[in-house]
Amino acid sequence: MRQTIVAGNWKMNASKETVNTLVMGILEGLPDVKSKVIVCTPYPYFSQVEALATHSQLNLGAQNININASGAFTGEVSADMIKDFGAEYVIVGHSERRSLYGETDEIVAEKVQVALDNKLTPLFCIGELLEERESGNTEAVVTRQINAVIEKVGIEAFKNIIIAYEPVWAIGTGVTATPQQAQDTHAFIRSLLAENDADIAQSTPILYGGSMNPANAEELIACADIDGGLIGGASLKSEDFLSICKAG
Ligand code: PGA
Repeated sequence: MRQTIVAGNWKMNASKETVNTLVMGILEGLPDVKSKVIVCTPYPYFSQVEALATHSQLNLGAQNININASGAFTGEVSADMIKDFGAEYVIVGHSERRSLYGETDEIVAEKVQVALDNKLTPLFCIGELLEERESGNTEAVVTRQINAVIEKVGIEAFKNIIIAYEPVWAIGTGVTATPQQAQDTHAFIRSLLAENDADIAQSTPILYGGSMNPANAEELIACADIDGGLIGGASLKSEDFLSICKAG
């Protein structure tokens, strides 16, 4: 039985004031939540979130890491630095990093490896563009993205990886994949893992991301192969985020 996981991806949205209100709001509702809850916050707010969330069930994650341990990499942040603030998770390969910052499958695979080497759990993101879905290439795209990581870290490593399937056309657009579309792709992803190891395929959490909100979360998370959500816009309001956390 896989535990439901709900992760908030705040992206580049925060201020000291909004972080305070948001985290306090989440903490208030958290005792009624059975899902594992993670917030992936911008780095400057790590210390604030760490302090607010001490002794709570709220888990801290980053949105990206550099592959190097330290040194002359201006503007970058290492795995050790985020662990210093108690973070245990890191989003890797988000479509915005792939499209805006040139992260290839190979770079993403390397970041997954670095996260694992540092005992961080990667939230490894995959997903197709609209034109790829429309041309019938969804399965080919997610296969390529997953195989790049399997080749790098091996299937056993998926014991410590969370997959997030995020169709790019659904991210931030208000257009959600239908539960059937999402379930079909999730089942396909699980079958890909099963080609390598049936037990790992069953135990790996596969989250859905892309305009998940309080109105559609329950139906999506109820699907057999959908184990929770990676939430962008709706993770910025504590009531909305909590309502999704309670859907699992
Ligand atoms: P969204 O973003 O929920 O705003 O669509 C999801 C994501 O990018 O992880």
